Amino acid sequence: MSLAARPQPPASASPVGVFDSGVGGLSVLGALRAELPRERFVYFADTAHAPYGERGDAYVTEHSRRVVDTLVREHGIKALVVACNTATTAAIHVMRAENPELPIVGLEPAIKPAVAGSATGHVSVLATRGTLASAKYAALRHTFPHPERIRSVPCDGLVAAIERLDELAIDQLCAHYMALAGPFGGDAGETDTVVLGCTHYPLLQDRLRRHAPSAVRFLDSGVPVALQTRRLLAAAGLLQERARPLDDAWVALRSSGDAAVLQSAAARWLGLRPSDLLPDRPQASTA
Ligand code: DGL
Repeated sequence: MSLAARPQPPASASPVGVFDSGVGGLSVLGALRAELPRERFVYFADTAHAPYGERGDAYVTEHSRRVVDTLVREHGIKALVVACNTATTAAIHVMRAENPELPIVGLEPAIKPAVAGSATGHVSVLATRGTLASAKYAALRHTFPHPERIRSVPCDGLVAAIERLDELAIDQLCAHYMALAGPFGGDAGETDTVVLGCTHYPLLQDRLRRHAPSAVRFLDSGVPVALQTRRLLAAAGLLQERARPLDDAWVALRSSGDAAVLQSAAARWLGLRPSDLLPDRPQASTA
């Protein structure tokens, strides 16, 4: 694979790249759009190779590198948001080493705010097997005084069910994994906070909530990642300052699989309209 340098240095008008194994990163894209409404984005779903979460680090690293290479070479992105917990844990160090000049924001399960705001001290983390088995996750968990109170629930099959929009499987898996995440409540030993440690899961938040009392809090990483992206862009002098109409096209959608499937997922999960869409390939310069 060629990892050639980008053709020209990115400017503040260049897009921010956002990538995930599939449609899950759309949950992060929504938070990015809300925080950075002047920016343009290019969202890459590596659907042809999803799901990442049950496949091992070498596979995830190889495909993540290819996606970043495409975003840098073909779109000249000015920053990258790895909107995938699994790719962050497996490959962010490789992406950073290979693109030292590119600001890169990764994700980690929102355990810190979960533990800080928990009255019982018991939180459950729903995530992929890959994320939960990683050294990064183990290290994060052990920064807390009571790691044994952080329950890890690997949700095998859930990402695949979301990608193929298998409603029955989604419902069954949500019920199954939420049963493993409990018992819920506000008494000693009960879980009062659920961390959505995979970017696909916030898309299902309403369905997951059906299986827990209404007082249980659900946390994901979308907003903190959007804030961190703003900080990195500002520090690099790459924030888009130019005001433009908020209804301008603002995002290009690219998929290694079926582009139409990604587009309808973006309409369903993000309310994206055709007028929001930039061309999915950069237009040739007329200069
Ligand atoms: N959205 C990815 C994450 O946050 C899903 C990984 C997968 O493809 O299994 O981990």
